[in-house]
Amino acid sequence: MAILHILQYPDERLHKVAKKIESITGATRKLISDMAETMYAAPGVGLAATQVDMHQQLIVIDVSETHDELLVLINPELIFSSGESKCEEGCLSVPGIYDKVERAEKITVRALNAKGEEFTLDAEGLLSVCIQHEMDHLQGKVFVERLSHLKQVRIRNKLKKRLRETF
Ligand code: NI
Repeated sequence: MAILHILQYPDERLHKVAKKIESITGATRKLISDMAETMYAAPGVGLAATQVDMHQQLIVIDVSETHDELLVLINPELIFSSGESKCEEGCLSVPGIYDKVERAEKITVRALNAKGEEFTLDAEGLLSVCIQHEMDHLQGKVFVERLSHLKQVRIRNKLKKRLRETF
């Protein structure tokens, strides 16, 4: 296993749209375990392949308190959503920035697991938010891009300032 480099916003590669995975190979399984290791090490509750510059429809999530309930979603499709919720979100690609984003409250998603078996999952609360956040990444969308234009400008300036202070 290996810790992968996580792209940092506003890296243009975060805007690439991920392609469907046609067959689950050894390389896919290696990517899944590397992504899981990277997410746990960060630490974070979710990671999309886009964030490690692999533009395939693959997400790993673990919202459990014990960090032992890894959820793998391959080619996820939203088949139902209802309600509205506004939760504070953060992202491993936008460190130190947290803000409230409007999402559906409940969702049903259909995907393949790591073995290539199809399953459907009903989610609400943190899991629902996390799945929607990660599915956005696969579409090339970072959560800050769901905020107002003014907030996006402020966030970009803050991140630029931080980069200047680091180097
Ligand atoms: Ni994210």
